[in-house]
Amino acid sequence: MGAVLGVNIDHVATVRQARYAKNSSSINVEPDPVEAALAAERGGAIGITAHLRQDRRHVVDHDIFRLKEAIGTKLNLEMGNSPEIVAIALKVLPADVCLVPESREEVTTEGGLDCIAHRAALESTLKAMRDAGIRVSLFIDPEPGQIEAAASLEAPVVELHTGAYAEASGVARDAELARLIAAARLASEAGIQVNAGHGLNYVNVKPILALPKLVELNIGHSIVSRSLFVGMEQAAREMAALLA
Ligand code: PXP
Repeated sequence: MGAVLGVNIDHVATVRQARYAKNSSSINVEPDPVEAALAAERGGAIGITAHLRQDRRHVVDHDIFRLKEAIGTKLNLEMGNSPEIVAIALKVLPADVCLVPESREEVTTEGGLDCIAHRAALESTLKAMRDAGIRVSLFIDPEPGQIEAAASLEAPVVELHTGAYAEASGVARDAELARLIAAARLASEAGIQVNAGHGLNYVNVKPILALPKLVELNIGHSIVSRSLFVGMEQAAREMAALLA
């Protein structure tokens, strides 16, 4: 039981944008998400995740192109299923794309992508990505109906939303973990790779390793937070060691 670590560097860009959103050509622009990604790789990350949002609130277009160029592992581009961002993904050609909800209408009750309601739109994006050699992961709630929808869309990977688990405590947390385990089993039986993420940290991550056939965890906020005190390389190394 173990998992490999994908580090989400969005919030390194959040810090940069806090000061330089309107002045990104200033010579002082810092911190650089690409530098953070390289440090995360030195610490044991097997991939770098970045979410290009429609409002560009943290990561911006040139970050994605620079990450693709600079990193030695694989780029996982998180994105909403909008024509503008799909076109960018097809230019960048990351190894992986993780489709996530960006607007309220796309979200299930708990916050994953609603693959049942948005089946048609997802189908055409999955095809475009597949034709371009990009592997698509669908970020979904640990719900049987969503797994079935992902399977019928022939998605090669799902990322199970661990947010409800991360926010729960006591018996409610145990119930969320059980739901994640059942969903992981269902997905792996359908031949889908199981990844997971959202809200995971150094304290709550261990029980998640009980998910059957779990491959990759994508973790951002907690690692970026810890990196303020120990540096990104060490923050990633500590998390990768927990997952090993
Ligand atoms: N996975 C997905 C699909 C996400 O949208 C996010 C948040 O950007 C994460 C993982 C990482 O979540 P966190 O920052 O809470 O670790």
